[in-house]
Amino acid sequence: MTRRIGILQQKGGVGKTTNTINVAGALAARGLDVLAVDMDPQGYLTHRLGFEDAYASDPPSLYDALDSPGEHAVADLVVQHEEFDLLPANIDMFRLEQDLIASGMRPRMRLKQLLDDATEWDVIIIDAPPSLGPLNDNVVLATEEILVPVEADESSQLALNHLLRQLDTLEDNYGTRISILGVIVSNVAYPLDNEQQDAIEWFEERFEGRVPVWVVRSRAAIKRAMQDEVSVFGEDAEDTDMRDVYAEIAAEVAP
Ligand SMILES: Nc1ncnc2c1ncn2[C@@H]1O[C@H](COP(=O)(O)OP(=O)(O)OP(=O)(O)O)[C@@H](O)[C@H]1O
Ligand SMILES: [Mg+2]
Repeated sequence: MTRRIGILQQKGGVGKTTNTINVAGALAARGLDVLAVDMDPQGYLTHRLGFEDAYASDPPSLYDALDSPGEHAVADLVVQHEEFDLLPANIDMFRLEQDLIASGMRPRMRLKQLLDDATEWDVIIIDAPPSLGPLNDNVVLATEEILVPVEADESSQLALNHLLRQLDTLEDNYGTRISILGVIVSNVAYPLDNEQQDAIEWFEERFEGRVPVWVVRSRAAIKRAMQDEVSVFGEDAEDTDMRDVYAEIAAEVAP
């Protein structure tokens, strides 16, 4: 069985793409066959990993695969990164949301339909766009298992509550169960001030201790690895203590 995990948070700049790269890298370092999927029309994951050509390429792309379900296989659209495979975003995806809704045919189930046939990977990890809308809903319904990156501040608490409400709505409308696998408090600079400390405690208490909360600190090594188009587990990436955190996350989500 291919496990599918969404990395989701409608708030911008909270570490979705950074965590997608490094969780994918950690899973690959465990010996798993990993596919990362870029569902953000802005294509940051695709660019970060060095595939700007794929982002600008002619059809078919992920846009066509979601627009015309059943006509494209994931394997034909994938590019090979040194650590894992990538299903790149494409510039055409800026009109995807509008086109899905206009078509009226199960617009929120397209990614699930597409990935149900993609069984050649152990884990598929999906970077979601910063919005609560049909693309985000596609990620939720295709995975039903979610990692939520947040920042250690008050606005991220509000954002998490909005997200949980959206997940409830999707559960009600689609008769499904959505699990939060963990919260990743991202880009945290120490020492913590009171607001950060309170926020981290709030995240821990929000789920009554049932959902793990990891803290990924702000690290130049994480930024530099991404500039080199790899995760912190990439062959030439410099050593960082955050590898241990990502390895823990990988062990939790793919035991
Ligand atoms: N642990 C970290 N250490 C250093 N820099 C980080 C860390 N986490 C995130 N960043 C930086 O923070 C910025 C935002 O991160 P990222 O792009 O991953 O967020 P995002 O949620 O995907 O954003 P968007 O909502 O635009 O898609 C990036 O410049 C990234 O390099
Ligand atoms: Mg992003």
